[in-house]
Amino acid sequence: MNYNDFYNESIHEPEQFWAKQAEQIAWYKKPEIILSKDEDGYPLWFEDGELNLCYLSVDKHVEDGYGDQVALIYDSPVTQTVRKYTYSEIKTEVAKLASGMLALGLKKGDTAIIYMPMIPQTAFAMLACARIGVIHSVVFGGFAPHELAVRIDDCKPRLIITASSGIEFDRLIAYKPLVDAAIELATHSPKKVIIFNRKLGARVPFKKYDVDYDNLVYGSEETRCVPLKSNHPSYILYTSGTTGKPKGIVRDTAGYAVALLFSMKYIYDVKPEETFWAASDMGWAVGHSYILYGPMLNRTTTIIFEGKPIKTPDASTYLRVIADHKVNTMFTAPTAIRAIKKEDPDGEFIKNYDLSNLKKQFLAGERCDSATIEWYQKHIPIPVIDHWWQTESGWPMVSNSLGLEKMKVKSGSATKAVCGYDLKIFNENGEELGPNEEGFVVIKLPLPPGNMLGIWKNKERFKNSYFTKFEGYYLSGDGGYKDEDDYIFITGRVDDVINVAGHRFSTADMEEVVSSHEEIAECAVIGIHDELKGQVPFALVVTKSNTEMSHFQLQHEIENLVRHQIGAVASLKSCVVVKRLPKTRSGKTLRRLLRSLADGEAYQIPSTIDDESIIEEIEQVLKEYKIGFYKTT
Ligand code: COA
Ligand code: AMP
Repeated sequence: MNYNDFYNESIHEPEQFWAKQAEQIAWYKKPEIILSKDEDGYPLWFEDGELNLCYLSVDKHVEDGYGDQVALIYDSPVTQTVRKYTYSEIKTEVAKLASGMLALGLKKGDTAIIYMPMIPQTAFAMLACARIGVIHSVVFGGFAPHELAVRIDDCKPRLIITASSGIEFDRLIAYKPLVDAAIELATHSPKKVIIFNRKLGARVPFKKYDVDYDNLVYGSEETRCVPLKSNHPSYILYTSGTTGKPKGIVRDTAGYAVALLFSMKYIYDVKPEETFWAASDMGWAVGHSYILYGPMLNRTTTIIFEGKPIKTPDASTYLRVIADHKVNTMFTAPTAIRAIKKEDPDGEFIKNYDLSNLKKQFLAGERCDSATIEWYQKHIPIPVIDHWWQTESGWPMVSNSLGLEKMKVKSGSATKAVCGYDLKIFNENGEELGPNEEGFVVIKLPLPPGNMLGIWKNKERFKNSYFTKFEGYYLSGDGGYKDEDDYIFITGRVDDVINVAGHRFSTADMEEVVSSHEEIAECAVIGIHDELKGQVPFALVVTKSNTEMSHFQLQHEIENLVRHQIGAVASLKSCVVVKRLPKTRSGKTLRRLLRSLADGEAYQIPSTIDDESIIEEIEQVLKEYKIGFYKTT
């Protein structure tokens, strides 16, 4: 198959192209309207269709005679458990859980937060919601109660589904007290909390809103899948924007199903019955699309892995999973490979495993350095495919579309735009740039199916975040360039979003937390280069004039504040005290300049800077504390 022909049709005849793809899924009501617009002119796909994501992911396969096929493998080195679930087993469990949820008063269109570790019950909870039209919002288990409370107040769940505990390396993390604390902090109160008790010894304080997961499932009859309109929201997934408040990205139902199935075939080149492993967390977009829905829509076996690339128990754990479960295609973040490479630089572990089933490795979530790709290919000589996407898109926007045509890999490039994405590079004035000129990465509307439907209950923010800078185009927030062969190179965020170990955080959110410390007058948080995590946050703080607190003590307190307010996963571990911050004459902090200073990059002093002498002052402090670039110089 030829990429160019396929791609060109998707751009020039989008309705025809996606109508054909929509034939690949089973509808309760086939759509006649393929592409339309909402009242604000935003594109909608398959408006009059009806379907159900849980039906397509589970029941359909059972009806087609594949009930005994393994759908999901739970592999948990931290509890030393491996358990396989067939499509039939999942159908029974999910249909009962959904029925129990109905008995608790949940209705189509209600919202439910899922705050759980990487266990099969997380997938069951998501599928049970999809089965009855409840909109799930999975919150990453590493977020602290305050962040959970912010999400509770935004999406106002009728129900929270949680587990008694998660495990981080060798630490048991009791989830229930965190959920209770979040409910205390939030203004909105969910009616019920379902708890899956893992019986690992964590404290599970009882509250009157509690319901036991096992009792609910075993006491319920199975319920059927409910037909849903194409644009019924399937889920809300919060991601970081440029303000302190997270954005609740809303996903539709039909466009998502069509796009995911398309991607499994034409991007990942994965066949039903193969095994696909996305080593991520269900709390992120990758988890939703490529641990759960993508593989299951495609009737591919998926893996829920509860562990880390290292220390669970060592850097061979990914290799063991690949060998044990005969993984054909894998997907992870470059950080994970860097972590393994650091522990096993000569690839000694690799020699001990049969990796013959593994045909390709996909990487995403952050920019991938060529040293990591080279190391991987030296030790595991299979195609390593860097590809680019975002929570907003829900599926890749730039990739080597292996199911269409295996294109040459160019180091540093995520290859070419995926079908449906008319990607351009703009300058500040919205003019298209030529080959190798760096600018804003934008996508011409309409975005293809699968992309976000909006920001939960916030139309203004949706419009302002993505569509006002360049009318008719989606602003991705990333910078990049195309070369003369239309290969796309993503160079990093152009806003105040940072990427820590493949996880996206808002520096504004962290600044709010750091500023709440009583000794801080003002601060700036920036992302600086980190060997392992790609970027880590770093704070420059101006203290109040009369403070007597030592730098060491202040840094410790700031780290703890961020841990407790956002979560340990934010990894803000260092700060320096400066006399003042570089600002424009209108008082805006020059964060990009700070980032360049810390990373030792070439920079241009903006003409709007208030006082240039501050640059030298900051450089002195960075040198003194050996921060970023100055660590090794
Ligand atoms: N619940 C509670 N705490 C969590 C957590 C969770 N679900 N996830 C992470 N944390 C904690 C960690 O324990 C750690 O705490 P610490 O500072 O007390 O040690 C902190 O948050 C930072 O976690 P993490 O980013 O995982 O860093 P790490 O140093 O523990 O591990 C790596 C480093 C590289 C092994 C890890 O970042 C990793 O596995 N990265 C790959 C990420 C990935 O696959 N992303 C996919 C996105 S597509
Ligand atoms: P998230 O929404 O959490 O998936 O994060 C999306 C962001 O991660 C993007 O805006 C990019 O900044 C970054 N990102 C994801 N994949 C890549 C990639 N392959 N190369 C460079 N950056 C990436």
